Amino acid sequence: MRLQYFSAAACLLIGGLASSTTALSDEPQEQLVERGRYIAQATDCIACHIGPDGTPYAGGQANRTPLGDIVAPNISSSEEYGIGSYSLSDLTRVLREGKAPGGKHLYPAMPYPSYQGMMDEDIEALYAYLQSVPAVDRAPEAETDLSFPFNVRLSMTVWNAINLGEYAPPEGLDDREARGQYIVDHMAHCGTCHTPRDDMMGSDYDQYLGGAQLGRWYAPNITSDDTSGIGAWSHQQLADYLKHGQAGYLAQAAGPMGEAVHHSLQYLTEDDRMAIAAYLKAVPAISDEKQQHAVFDPELGVPLAQLEPVVIKATDYRSDELEENGLKSNDIEEPSSPEGLYAQHCAACHRDDGMGQPDSHYASLKGNTTVRSANPRNLIAVVLEGISYNGATPRPLMPGFEGKLDDQEVADIANFVRTEFGEHSSSNIEEDDVAYIASGKQPTSTLIRFAPVLAWAGVLIILLLIVGGIWTWRRRRHQRSHTESRPEAHS
Ligand code: HEC
Ligand code: HEC
Ligand code: HEC
Repeated sequence: MRLQYFSAAACLLIGGLASSTTALSDEPQEQLVERGRYIAQATDCIACHIGPDGTPYAGGQANRTPLGDIVAPNISSSEEYGIGSYSLSDLTRVLREGKAPGGKHLYPAMPYPSYQGMMDEDIEALYAYLQSVPAVDRAPEAETDLSFPFNVRLSMTVWNAINLGEYAPPEGLDDREARGQYIVDHMAHCGTCHTPRDDMMGSDYDQYLGGAQLGRWYAPNITSDDTSGIGAWSHQQLADYLKHGQAGYLAQAAGPMGEAVHHSLQYLTEDDRMAIAAYLKAVPAISDEKQQHAVFDPELGVPLAQLEPVVIKATDYRSDELEENGLKSNDIEEPSSPEGLYAQHCAACHRDDGMGQPDSHYASLKGNTTVRSANPRNLIAVVLEGISYNGATPRPLMPGFEGKLDDQEVADIANFVRTEFGEHSSSNIEEDDVAYIASGKQPTSTLIRFAPVLAWAGVLIILLLIVGGIWTWRRRRHQRSHTESRPEAHS
C-alpha cells in the first residue's frame, strides 16, 4: 500500500519535473511573462473575457451569435473560478482543439480556429502571463443558454471535423509578410470579423478578408483590391490606422474595430504593424461590384491636410455649440429637411461642407471610407452608437444619436451625407433599413435555421428505429418460439 502511494507520488514528481522542463525554455520567468503580456495583447483575449464592469479577464460578456448568446468565462488566475489550475497543456488544448479540461467542447465563439496555429513558444509565454494576472474570485453572472441542438457540445466534434481547416496563404511570402500572416491569422484573428461565414458558420476562405457583417456593423473588405479593399492605402497609412484608429484623415476605427485598436493593435510594435500592412497588400484581391468608386482615395486626404485648423476644441458635445459656432438652428430654413437635420446634429463637428476639422481630429466626412462605402451599415451604426474609443492619440469622441433621432431622421441624414460627401449618385436608405440595421439581426443560413427541426426529426427517426427494431425483434422471437413449439405439438 505504502509502496503504491510512494510510486504514485514519484510518478507525479517525475511527471511534474518532466513537464516543467519540457514546458519551460531557458527564458527567465520575468521575461517570459513580459513576452506573454505582448502575446495576450496581440491575441486580444481581453476583448471578450473582460467583465461587464471592466475587470480584466473576469468574464461575463455575451458573444451574440445566430445560435444564441455564448458567454465568455472567467480566465483570470483564480483556481476556483478562472484558469489558475490549468496546466500548459490544458491551455494548449483550448487554443488548438477548442477543448476545455475534462473534455468539454468549446464553441468557436472562442476563436480557437484562429489560435490553433499559434507557436508553442507563444502559447507558453501566454500561459505564464495569464497565470500572473490577478485572480478574480467570482463566477460571471451571465451564463450560456442555447437551445437544442446547439446546446449539445459534442456536436462540435462534427463541426471541427468539417471547419477546422486553415486558410492557405499565398505562396512566396517574404519574412515580413509571413510574420504579418501569422499575426493576422493566428494572433489578432482579423478574419473572425473580416472573413464571411459559410452555411455552417465556418470561415468562407473563398472570400478571405472580403468583408462580413458583425451585428450592426460591417467589417469591410481588407484585401488588396484597389477599389473595394485596402489596395490604395500606403503601408504607413495601414500601420497608422492600427495604432491610432485613424488613417490619412480618411478612415476612423469605430465599433468593434475601435475596440480592437483600443485593447490590442495600438500596443503592437511598429514592426509588427508594418508586417500586417505588408501581408494585407499580398492578400489576393476580392472586388465588390457594388463598389463603383474607390472606398479609399488618398488624393482626397491632401486638401484636407491643408484645411484651416481648429474651429471647435470642445471634446464633449453640447447642442449650444451650434449657437457658438454660428449655426443657429433657427437660421436653418427647413430644420426637418435632410440638410437641416445634418446642420443641426452633425455640422458643429463635421462642418457644413463635411470637411470636418482634421487637425483637431473631428473626422472629415468628405473622403471618409465609411461614407464612401457602398454598404451603408457602418454609417448608420456610427450615427446610432457614436465612437467611444481612441487609439494611441487622445482625441475627441463622437456621441451616439440612438434615442435622439428617429429611424427616418437617421435615414435622411445618411442619404444626405452619402450623396453630398460620399460620391454616391443616389442613396435610398429607408426608415425600415435603419430599424433592421439597428436590430443587429444577421441573415442565418437555412441549415442553421432548420437545425432544430432537423435535429428533432433526427431524434424522432432514431426513436422510431429503436421502437421498430424492438417490435421486429419481439415479433421474430415470438414467431421462432411458435415454429419451435410446433413440431412438439405434432409429435
Ligand atoms: C471573440 C471572443 C473571444 C476571444 C478573443 C477569446 N475568447 Fe476565450 N472564450 C470565448 C468564449 C465565448 C468562450 C466560451 C465558449 C464556450 O462556452 O464554449 C471562451 C472560452 C475560453 C476558455 C475556456 C475556459 C473553460 O475552462 O471553460 C479559455 C481557457 C479561454 N477562452 C481563453 C482565451 C484566451 C487565452 C484568449 C486569448 C488568446 C481568448 N480566450 C480569446 C471568447 C473569446
Ligand atoms: C472584432 C472585429 C474586428 C477585428 C478582430 C478586426 N477588425 Fe478591422 N474592422 C472591423 C470593423 C467593424 C471595421 C469598420 C470600422 C469603421 O468603419 O469604423 C473594421 C475596419 C478595418 C479597416 C478599415 C477599412 C476601411 O475601409 O475603413 C482596416 C484596414 C481593418 N479593419 C484591418 C484590420 C486588421 C488588419 C485586423 C487584424 C489585425 C482587424 N481589422 C481586426 C472589425 C474588426
Ligand atoms: C461632438 C462632435 C460630433 C458630432 C455632433 C458628430 N460627430 Fe461624427 N465624429 C466625431 C469625431 C470626433 C469623429 C472621429 C473619431 C475618431 O477620430 O476616432 C467622428 C467620426 C464620424 C464618422 C467616421 C466614422 C468611421 O467609421 O470612419 C462618421 C461617418 C460620422 N462621424 C458621421 C456623423 C454624423 C452623420 C453626425 C450627425 C448625425 C455626426 N457624425 C455627429 C464627432 C462628432
